[in-house]
Amino acid sequence: MHITFRQLTVLEAVARNLSYTKAAEELHLTQPAVSMQIKQIEESLGLPLFEQIGKKVFLTEAGNEMYTYCRSIQQQLSEAEHVIENLKGVKQGKLTIAVASTANYFAPKILAAFNKEHETVKIDLDVTNRHGLVEHLQKNDTDVVIMGRPPAEMDLEAEQFMQNPLVLIASPDHHLVNKQNISIQDLQKETFIIREEGSGTRTAIEKFFREKGAPLETTINMSSNEAIKQAVQAGLGLGIVSIHTLELELELNRLVVINADEFPILRNWYIVYRKGKRLSPIALAFKNFLLNHARELWKLSA
Ligand code: PGA
Repeated sequence: MHITFRQLTVLEAVARNLSYTKAAEELHLTQPAVSMQIKQIEESLGLPLFEQIGKKVFLTEAGNEMYTYCRSIQQQLSEAEHVIENLKGVKQGKLTIAVASTANYFAPKILAAFNKEHETVKIDLDVTNRHGLVEHLQKNDTDVVIMGRPPAEMDLEAEQFMQNPLVLIASPDHHLVNKQNISIQDLQKETFIIREEGSGTRTAIEKFFREKGAPLETTINMSSNEAIKQAVQAGLGLGIVSIHTLELELELNRLVVINADEFPILRNWYIVYRKGKRLSPIALAFKNFLLNHARELWKLSA
């Protein structure tokens, strides 16, 4: 069967009006043009759709069946049109986002504020380390990613929206607390509790000490910022974490930020997606919201 959408529209109009003349008027066509279209459909189907008795037009059984399908196809199309229109207007749809485990200390606050302005938008958030984020970017299965330094080997769009200082933390009774002029070499001898392989924070710390010619000697791995903070509080060693992971620990004097030479390690947060990707209207709205409000929202919650 080979029928065009235009022919279905003609068929629907003739069947609804039971008149070639009225259908022609409605569609701004001539009456012979309408008859020709119907004839072509009948030829393609191999069955007549209408019969004319006297001056009256009747639907055949095949005509009735086709009329039902025509209406349902038109209805589906108009639904599709509606959904697409809504997508254009950021009223409906989904924001799929993946954020670094470290960024998850501020990302939910930003998402909550964004959601207040776009209440009908569904949000799908994945929290993973840098390694997981690179996989998301490779598969291109999220709208946007929030991460530290974007991987240089990939073709990406990346916009920086906030600083991400990594600070040195210790328990309040650590021997380095209140010491002045702590050098990188002094630190090298300490035990450090650092994130798992695949973490962006870990990579940045390793790079920092390597570049200073003082790679860390003793490290203990932990797979979350929370675990690191607990271990540092318990006196297991020093930690280096993003300032964003510190909530009430400083106020409650459970942890202390130590001023050592060249600290904090300065990093930034980026919103990242594949070059050439066409962001949905919702993703675009979120990106603009983040670029405009992230710093102020973070200050409010800090
Ligand atoms: P992570 O994230 O340490 O939680 O992997 C930080 C980053 O992407 O650099």
